[in-house]
Parts: sequence; C-alpha cells; structure tokens
Amino acid sequence: MAQIGYSKKVMDHFTNPRNVGVIENPDGYGKVGNPVCGDLMEMFIKVENDIIMDIKFRTFGCGSAIATSSMVTEMAKGMHVDEAIKITRNDVADELEGLPPAKMHCSNLAADALGEAIKNYREKRGETGNR
Ligand code: FES
Repeated sequence: MAQIGYSKKVMDHFTNPRNVGVIENPDGYGKVGNPVCGDLMEMFIKVENDIIMDIKFRTFGCGSAIATSSMVTEMAKGMHVDEAIKITRNDVADELEGLPPAKMHCSNLAADALGEAIKNYREKRGETGNR
C-alpha cells in the first residue's frame, strides 16, 4: 500500500480480518455509525456468565475500521463484559501498534459498537441504568 503509517499488525488485520460475520440470536447487538465519514459497524456477542464467548462484526467501513474491529473482537473474546466495555479506541490503536492520526476516528466505530452490544446485553437481562 502506498500510504505510510500503517503498522504490520494493521495490515495483517485488514487483509485477514478475524471474526467477520453475524451471530444468529445474539445475546447482545450493537450498531453505530461514524459521524465523520458515515460508515457503519455492527457487533454481535454471545455471552455466558457475563463472559464474551463469541463475537462477530460486520462493517461498511474503511480498512482501518476493519482492522480495528478485527482487533477489538480478538481482545474482547473471553473477557468479562465489565472489562470489555472499558476497551477504548486508544487501547485498540495501541494493540495495533498505532494508527495514523487521520484514522483514529475509525477505531471509534469498533469500540463504540462493542459498547453498544454490551449495553444491549445488559438491557435484555434487565440490568439497565446501573452505569
Ligand atoms: Fe470511515 Fe474509517 S473512514 S471508518
């Protein structure tokens, strides 16, 4: 790729994204749009005893959005929902060994969609308004 500033990890997750797809009847579902570019992200989670057992995403986003969501799904799998909801876009960018500044907004999509999916999971369990 001609653009500079993408780490090998970003390129790896972009060209070989993990956990792409849909989970039927998910325990939590989140969908967010990026106000900067208008791209969309969907996140699906399967949860057992508050642990994220499975997670998948689908996006109409750019390469950085694909790479960051792939990374978020790898980070969140096996995590307690209380921990996973704290993952920030900076955590994701750090895991990816950095993103070009102009692309940092793209990592919002992944972290926000995961947060929405966890909120949805809690709502379904009737745990609203605790946070
Ligand atoms: Fe839209 Fe990156 S440009 S998510």
